[in-house]
Amino acid sequence: MDNSLVFLSWLFVGLVTTWSSMSSQAEARAFFVFGDSLVDNGNNDYLVTTARADNYPYGIDYPTHRATGRFSNGLNIPDLISEQIGSEPTLPYLSPELNGQRLLVGANFASAGIGILNDTGVQFLNIIRIAQQLAYFGQYQQRVSALIGPDQTERLVNEALVLITLGGNDFVNNYYLVPFSARSRQFSLPNYVVYLISEYRKILVRLYELGARRVLVTGTGPLGCVPAELAMHGRNGECAAELQQAAGLFNPQLDQLLNELNSEIGSDVFVTANAFEMHMDFVSDPQAYGFVTSKVACCGQGPYNGIGLCTPASNLCPNRDLYAFWDPFHPSEKANRLIVQTFMTGSTKYMNPMNLSTILALNLNSRST
Ligand SMILES: *[C@@H]1O[C@H](CO)[C@@H](O)[C@H](O)[C@H]1NC(C)=O
Ligand SMILES: *[C@@H]1O[C@H](CO)[C@@H](O)[C@H](O)[C@H]1NC(C)=O
Repeated sequence: MDNSLVFLSWLFVGLVTTWSSMSSQAEARAFFVFGDSLVDNGNNDYLVTTARADNYPYGIDYPTHRATGRFSNGLNIPDLISEQIGSEPTLPYLSPELNGQRLLVGANFASAGIGILNDTGVQFLNIIRIAQQLAYFGQYQQRVSALIGPDQTERLVNEALVLITLGGNDFVNNYYLVPFSARSRQFSLPNYVVYLISEYRKILVRLYELGARRVLVTGTGPLGCVPAELAMHGRNGECAAELQQAAGLFNPQLDQLLNELNSEIGSDVFVTANAFEMHMDFVSDPQAYGFVTSKVACCGQGPYNGIGLCTPASNLCPNRDLYAFWDPFHPSEKANRLIVQTFMTGSTKYMNPMNLSTILALNLNSRST
């Protein structure tokens, strides 16, 4: 009798385990993405804009070997996060395929060229600025409500993982776009950063009001070290000092903003993903990560392959995995993989206050109780 009781309780544990893994598969966490070209899954392909990655050799290592609008040779950071969640990649919000059950996977609202400020990326014409991305997130929730009801929709959004990547373009495609730009005449660099952070605060508060409860916020990478900047503003292959200074001012203040917001809310809603440190690791020792270089882009032309865009006429490296940079501004799929691995398991130097594997485990526990 004792034995059969033990057996029964084992059976019970077995059933519960099977059941919870089944239900977590059935309703994998939704994923929402906001931001710029680092995380755009193809929205700009639906817009009249010059900021697009819709031509060979973009996508050369994507499963279809075709350009998808991702600024990568293959997968980008959101795709690799979806992989970790166990979901299919999020579709661009503007994709006509995003309907029915597919809506429950989440959506990607990002648009190449945008920044924190409305005047960032004006040269790209018709792009989805951040206020519009957030408005689309509201519209998305109405569409999902029609499908599963308002209560389930709220739960889906509250339990979802959110990624937001903003800020790089406010420097590269605004303040430093041309000498004596309007913003650089209006603000000193330190005052510009303070202004950016005050505008970013409003965006993050809005995201919270819209129901986001677990938000990965990437700061900017080492802006002065990308091949485009090495080619245009670097001296002898050294990272461009002004842009490095910009990132050096912006990232710590962003970190501080997220801490403030978390203590106002009383919960760790916002998580810093320190893209700067992750990228600096490649920059300072590319060989340690299997790259032959972190200075020369795989696809481009001129010094460091950093001039102009990546086009069918550009130089193209034969093995994309050996390059930290795919084009003059964007990491290769291989670099994206290393970055997302650090999202998952990085220490507090990279992920603060917690890493993605902790987040995924946390949410799963709270769901099963
Ligand atoms: C940016 O545009 C949005 C939408 O038009 C507007 O609500 C917001 O106030 C603007 N931001 C700034 C700083 O002007
Ligand atoms: C990050 O993830 C690993 C598990 O892969 C864990 O052991 C570690 O404690 C985590 N670090 C933080 C700071 O959450």
